[in-house]
Amino acid sequence: MFLKHKQQNKEAPSFLLLKKQKKKRTKTYLKIILLIAASFNFFSLKLFAYNPVRNDSLELARLYDKLSTPQYIQGKDLIKLLKVTAGSFVLDLGCGTGRLAAYLRELVGPKGWVIGMDPSPYRIEIAKQRMKKGLSFQLGGSEDLGVFKDNFFDFVYLNSVFYWIRDKETALVEIYRILKPGGKLGITSGYKFENSPLLKIVNDAIMEVMGKEFASGGMNEDSFGKEDFKELLQESGFLIIHFKQKEYTDYFPSPKEVVQFFKASSNGNLLEEIPQTKRAFILSKIETRLERLRSSKGIKIIHWTMFAVCQKPL
Ligand SMILES: C[S@@+](CC[C@H](N)C(=O)[O-])C[C@H]1O[C@@H](n2cnc3c(N)ncnc32)[C@H](O)[C@@H]1O
Repeated sequence: MFLKHKQQNKEAPSFLLLKKQKKKRTKTYLKIILLIAASFNFFSLKLFAYNPVRNDSLELARLYDKLSTPQYIQGKDLIKLLKVTAGSFVLDLGCGTGRLAAYLRELVGPKGWVIGMDPSPYRIEIAKQRMKKGLSFQLGGSEDLGVFKDNFFDFVYLNSVFYWIRDKETALVEIYRILKPGGKLGITSGYKFENSPLLKIVNDAIMEVMGKEFASGGMNEDSFGKEDFKELLQESGFLIIHFKQKEYTDYFPSPKEVVQFFKASSNGNLLEEIPQTKRAFILSKIETRLERLRSSKGIKIIHWTMFAVCQKPL
């Protein structure tokens, strides 16, 4: 004890002190480096991890709620095909502002339940205003459905969402897990650029200004075709019980409104990967081309949607 005390009080030889200080300094440097590395890693992960709703806002969510009648109509068609029965437990994945989930709540009646889930806090905020008994909303993406139990839902559907999901395989594995045996999955989705006049107009305008490498224009470049879609569903263990394509026609008062609809439907991702300085020019090209689609009812936009109804085997 005494010796230790004595040693502590003894002036340390300068070379040792230096070493001690060096050691201390090295430790501090190391700590700083580690901290910088950790925070860089944290921020870089935050910056570079794919977040489909990074460009979303409350304003876009409100706009979507107002302009999403095309998706709403298509969603009602999907629900008809799914033959949702009263008393069912249903998950609306990528529910947006909850319009379709609210419609479905009336169909499942007092003994059923509809849960809407979406990764955009802004869309969920609006959806929550529709909440009532048997209708609830939850923040989250399709790739991690860990909050839900296995074999729980009678129906899961994604209306105009599947196209946006980067990791489609993981989403399907998760959906399979949470569906009851015999439970049904319903999906509507657009597909490759060539089949969508609107996406083609956007894509052509981008390519003219930016060159081929910007072809997806900040939208999901993992768009896929009919056969890829069917294969993916079957590989995930689902039985396809219904598959069809349907043509829809929508009319918009002006090219500007089409662009707004597109921005709101894509969570603000339209042209987001294009340098700011080029966006206005590309937008003017898009609007000029859209004007050529004017008919007596307004700007006429035709699009094709794939419908898939699948079942988890019994
Ligand atoms: C075109 S909106 C469709 C909304 C709604 N299903 C409807 O019928 O109106 C696409 C929605 O997909 C959501 N979304 C994007 N990526 C997603 C993902 N990985 N998982 C679940 N939803 C996603 C968006 O936040 C957005 O609300």
